[in-house]
Amino acid sequence: QDHVRQMQNDIMEQLIPQDASGAVENLADLNVTSNLGRMTHYYFQQGGKMLRPTVSLLMGNACNSAMNRSIPEEQIAIPISERSGISSHLIVCQNQYKIGMIAEMIHTASLVHDDVIDEANTRRGSASVNAVWGNKMSVLVGDFILARATQILCSIGKPKVIAVMASIIEDLVLGEFMQMSVTPSEATPSQRMVAYIEKTHRKTASLFASSCRSTAILADPSNSNLHQTAYEYGRNLGIAFQLADDLLDFIATSDEMGKPVAADLKLGLATAPVLYACEQYPELTTMLLRKFKHEGDAERARDIVMNSDGMDKTRQLIDAYSQKAVEMASSLPNRNESTEQLIKLALSQTDRKF
Ligand code: FPP
Ligand code: MG
Ligand code: MG
Repeated sequence: QDHVRQMQNDIMEQLIPQDASGAVENLADLNVTSNLGRMTHYYFQQGGKMLRPTVSLLMGNACNSAMNRSIPEEQIAIPISERSGISSHLIVCQNQYKIGMIAEMIHTASLVHDDVIDEANTRRGSASVNAVWGNKMSVLVGDFILARATQILCSIGKPKVIAVMASIIEDLVLGEFMQMSVTPSEATPSQRMVAYIEKTHRKTASLFASSCRSTAILADPSNSNLHQTAYEYGRNLGIAFQLADDLLDFIATSDEMGKPVAADLKLGLATAPVLYACEQYPELTTMLLRKFKHEGDAERARDIVMNSDGMDKTRQLIDAYSQKAVEMASSLPNRNESTEQLIKLALSQTDRKF
């Protein structure tokens, strides 16, 4: 059985049920629901690593074990992606499974919007939603996926979990805003690095961190130490993951990634390899301040970065965040197979290939 498929099908069922209900039939004339259905199902049909559900559910299972929590009635076997390097079943409760779905739905909604912002034509090896249906529809498709995720979240019925998961959406927007804003020219390299890590937390790590916190809350609502450990694991893993993504933008091919690469500089973005290279090559800072907009800037900056220590230093930074994630997972009581998988996942970020 393809375990990933199970969750993708469950998500698609939540978005627009396959067998049309009465409400859908009423709208059929307008062709609204069927088109929206096709668009919202588009990425979930193509697969993907399902990394966010995997991480949050492994954490849920590890926390259930940490609390010696038996979950007799609600238990459910969750999907684990083969591609994530983990292939096992694990048992979590129904509400923890919902957190996995919501995490993937928020992530997908943000990608639909991101490809509009970045004007990207490919995603997961196929044409992006905006390339197929245009920007206007894409904005609505992202909103719709988010709306459905919110409804699932409310069905969990726990205000604390709703607040934690809602904070992800705020962080995603703030992260994108930080990324778009120009760093003041008087900022020092280390101030630039602090701002970049903060942006990375909001844009990427917050989703991992708060999904992990949520499955921990569901494991034991009153254990704030456990919630914090779960959150810190997700935050450190998430930052390591995005750092690896930023590194891959320099070294991977678009075939490997299924999306455009060598793209960040052209988008005016200075990621970790660039920020490190700036310390060695001050002329890079001049280009950074004008967001690599002059003719030939992106290409020249790329050459400088490739010849600098930037990529090695970025690898060391990935290691440092991975290690912090490992420490967090290792500190969970009553370690089980899921805890080991969380550790393995953190360690795999340094030499991630896609
Ligand atoms: C991918 O980054 C994008 C994100 C991680 C977040 C995007 C967030 C928004 C557009 C805010 C709106 C949010 C919601 C929930 C609708 P990237 O462009 O660096 O990566 P890529 O190479 O995969 O495109
Ligand atoms: Mg982007
Ligand atoms: Mg993008």
